[in-house]
Amino acid sequence: MMQLFEYAQQQKKQEEATQLAQGRMDQLVTDLIRHNRLYHEQDAPEISDYAYDRLYRELEDLERAWPDLQRPDSPTRRVGSAPVAELTPFVHDVPMLSLQNAFGADELREFEAKIRRFLGADAPADIEYMVEPKLDGLAMEVVYEGRRFARGGTRGDGAVGEDVSHNLRTIQNLPMSLPPDAPDRFTVRGEVLFELAGFEEMNARREAAGERRFENPRNAAAGTIRQLDPRAAQDRPLRFFSHSAAGWPEGAAAPPATQAEWLDRFKAYGFTTNPLNRRCCGLEEMIAAVEDLQRLRPTLPYEIDGAVVKVNDLALQERLGFVTRSPRWAIANKYPPPRVRTVLDGVIFQVGRTGTITPVACLRPVRVGGVTVSRATLHNQEELARLDLRMGDTVGVERSGDVIPKVAEVIKDEDHAARPHVRFPANCPDCGAPLENDPLEVAIRCPNGLGCPSQVRGAILHFGSRLCMYIDGLGEQR
Ligand code: IVH
Repeated sequence: MMQLFEYAQQQKKQEEATQLAQGRMDQLVTDLIRHNRLYHEQDAPEISDYAYDRLYRELEDLERAWPDLQRPDSPTRRVGSAPVAELTPFVHDVPMLSLQNAFGADELREFEAKIRRFLGADAPADIEYMVEPKLDGLAMEVVYEGRRFARGGTRGDGAVGEDVSHNLRTIQNLPMSLPPDAPDRFTVRGEVLFELAGFEEMNARREAAGERRFENPRNAAAGTIRQLDPRAAQDRPLRFFSHSAAGWPEGAAAPPATQAEWLDRFKAYGFTTNPLNRRCCGLEEMIAAVEDLQRLRPTLPYEIDGAVVKVNDLALQERLGFVTRSPRWAIANKYPPPRVRTVLDGVIFQVGRTGTITPVACLRPVRVGGVTVSRATLHNQEELARLDLRMGDTVGVERSGDVIPKVAEVIKDEDHAARPHVRFPANCPDCGAPLENDPLEVAIRCPNGLGCPSQVRGAILHFGSRLCMYIDGLGEQR
């Protein structure tokens, strides 16, 4: 009898403790989400990092003691979720389309002319546009169900991408839950990217640890978001900027009427939007905004490769519709890649996997579009000859988001003619075999095959790469 009584009392105590824990955990999750937003969205923290870490620790401890009570939107879920075995397909319910390109004011005028032709007589006197920086990141879709982060995936071919939820969860400025006034089911789209400061810092850390530097922020973001183990993403400062949605859920109240309203809605739901997005009245204002952004480009803390122009009014967008795979109501105005001058300090000749020799310029380090560049490709011997490159020349270096920097021009100053030519070597710089001219391609190669250490190394790397056996962890470093 006594035993049963004690047992019942114990049970009761446990239930009380569970209830207390539940209440405290709810409070902690709410507070931590709020502090996260204040810190990451609004740059206005209310508590010290130390106080935040204490709250976080308390939540972790409670979740360890009551694992069943862990909320799906808990900030602790952002980190340490288990690695996935492989990336699984991510189906876009509404296809992710692409944009037509424009190059400059004339083509923007043509873009509006087409819109006017399509709309006919009842086109507004001044068409309203949103002009937004075209962020040079990775297009991403994120789905919320029951106002909670459900999953997210890459664009892929527009219909099916890859599920990268495990890594998206680690992005600090991506909300894991939406406020009560958000629709129950909601799909947002945007760009995942590294800001330049975070990118440089990360590269410095990698270099200090003896790891390879990332080429540029975009590649780094792509590489990070596709990792199977979310620990990689957790330590890297990725950010998410939202710029569109996959429609307003059917039946949900108060659909937005303009792109500007969409952007306000994203912000209200806790997403980061670009502060430089600008509403413009009429063609001239739109062109001015596109050109303003181009001027601002070198000063921005992240990379952009153009401006996206969107007709603001969603009813007009609806009428304009699509041509094949892109909307008639939007266009991407592309900016030319940034170019800066620096000095050629030397040239090295790299031996590729198949023996092809590529001349690479060693440059006095220079910042191009926010990234420090000290190497640039010179492609092949024909390019060397075309540029008439000499040691010590001043050169114009270009880089655009996804391309390896290249020497775009040689400044033919008065000393140029007197400087020594850059000469292709006669022998392989690695194994010493006499180089051969490949008559079928514009290439000079080392014919030594697997007798050449560089080619062996290239072959092993290729074998382990994603294109071949996809051996996770077998990279350059190892
Ligand atoms: S709107 C119908 N807005 O550019 C397409 N896209 O080809 C609606 N991008 O990879 C896209 N910044 O992810 C839009 N402010 C912005 C953007 C933007 C970058 C990317 C987009 C896609 C490509 C469009």
